[in-house]
Amino acid sequence: MNRPLRAAVFASGGGSNLQALIDHVAASDAPSWGVSLVVTDRPDAGALARAERHGIRAEVVATRPEDEADGPAPRLLALLDEERIDLVLLAGYLKLVPPTVVGRYAGRILNIHPALLPAFGGKGMYGMHVHRAVVESGARVTGATVHLADEVYDRGRILAQWPVPVLAGDTPEALAARVLAVEHRLYPKVVDHVASALARGDDATPMDTPPFPLPTTRSTEESR
Ligand code: GRF
Repeated sequence: MNRPLRAAVFASGGGSNLQALIDHVAASDAPSWGVSLVVTDRPDAGALARAERHGIRAEVVATRPEDEADGPAPRLLALLDEERIDLVLLAGYLKLVPPTVVGRYAGRILNIHPALLPAFGGKGMYGMHVHRAVVESGARVTGATVHLADEVYDRGRILAQWPVPVLAGDTPEALAARVLAVEHRLYPKVVDHVASALARGDDATPMDTPPFPLPTTRSTEESR
């Protein structure tokens, strides 16, 4: 397959990871993938404005039974078909992906999580809840994980992880900012890796070489 793969990004929030993905593609000479569709469950998601600013189709797909009697799956599948989507990238999407969508895109749905899974993952572990739990636990290391997603929160094969130190006196907010900066660097690199595999007709496998140098406490401090 020579054409760039077409990715859909699902986001519920501000969309800074979406932005990092868009910026990465824009900075690539010969990108192997691009963001062709943005889907959100929330009409007020910042991700919508980011998509519009870049001329990317953006759609709100409601997930509440009173809004969407058959659930979101039929609309999601129709949108993914219409846009000939190859790859689904969850970036702060707070809903479970319906099983029919998971089935159709098995091995081609990725998620980013702001901790080192399987620690600090699962239902209710999102956003600041994760970083608060990490600080309260006394853990000295957290990080970011990109994994294949399925119909259970934060389960699925881990493709890449990057550690981030928890510093003495860290607040959840300070830690969240440090982890988010790593997410923005990690996710696009993992998507490059997965897109190359899929374009060759291979399965998405874990990255065996580090996408960038291991952080040290000192360099992390300096980059803040
Ligand atoms: C990120 O921390 C991501 O790992 C998590 O939700 C947050 C989304 O942030 N799943 P943003 O909307 O990309 O800014």
